[in-house]
Amino acid sequence: MDVPETMKAQVFYEPEKMTLDEAKPVPEIGPEEVLVKVHATGICGSDISYYFGKAAVGTEDPLVLGHEISGVIARVGEVAAEKGGFEVGDPVVVNPVQSDVNSPWTQKGLSNVDLGDVVGITKDGGFAEYCVSHWYWTVKVPQDMDLDIAASAEPLACGLYAVKNLNIQAGQFVTIFGPGPIGLMMVQMAKVYGAGKVLLVGTRDERLDVGKELGTDLIANTKDPESPNYVEDLDKFIRDNNNGELSDRTILATANLGAIKSGIDTAGNASTVVIFGLPGDNDVHSVSGIECMLKDMTIRYSWLAPDTWPEAVDLLHSGKVRVEPIQSYSFALEELGDSLHKVKNREGNAIKPLMKN
Ligand SMILES: NC(=O)c1ccc[n+]([C@@H]2O[C@H](COP(=O)([O-])OP(=O)(O)OC[C@H]3O[C@@H](n4cnc5c(N)ncnc54)[C@H](OP(=O)(O)O)[C@@H]3O)[C@@H](O)[C@H]2O)c1
Repeated sequence: MDVPETMKAQVFYEPEKMTLDEAKPVPEIGPEEVLVKVHATGICGSDISYYFGKAAVGTEDPLVLGHEISGVIARVGEVAAEKGGFEVGDPVVVNPVQSDVNSPWTQKGLSNVDLGDVVGITKDGGFAEYCVSHWYWTVKVPQDMDLDIAASAEPLACGLYAVKNLNIQAGQFVTIFGPGPIGLMMVQMAKVYGAGKVLLVGTRDERLDVGKELGTDLIANTKDPESPNYVEDLDKFIRDNNNGELSDRTILATANLGAIKSGIDTAGNASTVVIFGLPGDNDVHSVSGIECMLKDMTIRYSWLAPDTWPEAVDLLHSGKVRVEPIQSYSFALEELGDSLHKVKNREGNAIKPLMKN
């Protein structure tokens, strides 16, 4: 593959200051790395947080954001070819969490608790024409895979880890709070992994409607009393739909503290609750110990996607999880700033638009 000397990239300097560099040198690769020609990169909520200054990126240097990346191998380092079997032209997705391969936690399959470099957060990412990835964290996808769809492998892999941590038993009532892109993927995965009825709880009908389109059995809008989906008493709503019982399995796919309290309150006997929404630095999650104890409840957190990538790719490739309605629309690299604003302001139901080269 012919690789040019320079490329286009959106370079982030500080909150709300990002410029299109039309001639940034295409990055060099080391022996353990591959160069990926970026096909598509999705916008994540954290890109919005970095761009608008709600969270800090992991470097002082100018940075190319974007960590939900699909593409094709353009160059291969010696070790990457030998150990990973990578070849120019291979279609891939990038696991951005590129922890030290030799760390004891990585070796135990828990790279999520011993973070090293993260593509698009501590080093240049996918809002560019090319980016670099360590071979160990680069995942080959089937030759016939649609690379637009593959660009959602990263959020799907994180959501899948949370769904697996839920330990769903066949036929159970599953509640998912937060109809963002990941909650909308989770409702489909909950079905794949055996849920009976799935309830999606949110604040906006347009997102809940996408959940319906993707197979959610029940939706509840807990914010807008004007909504036809408004549910004032969630406890009663769940009991009415689950033979008098509260929720068997619940995921909090939002960091909203009210949602977390409601999720724990509406989880029933012998339930499992997984907290997935990323807490703010000062957030404290308090629970009534006695209520959780008497329900024999399990509450756990779920962080990133240490071992779920191949399965996530398979869910997308097989069509068991659909992301087209979630990807909303695609845009060119030049239009990134505009789409970051649209996602932040929920304009036109922009859920997870896709930058496409
Ligand atoms: N643990 C991990 O490994 C991991 C990985 C990636 C992301 N995350 C986090 O997971 C969460 C979900 O990600 P995402 O990309 O899907 O985020 P998102 O786009 O922010 O979606 C969150 C959704 O929750 C809704 N929401 C807000 N308050 C709610 C409430 N009280 N009840 C029900 N729904 C409510 C939001 O509605 P509005 O439109 O009204 O705001 C929005 O639709 C985020 O917090 C993200 O930072 C965690």
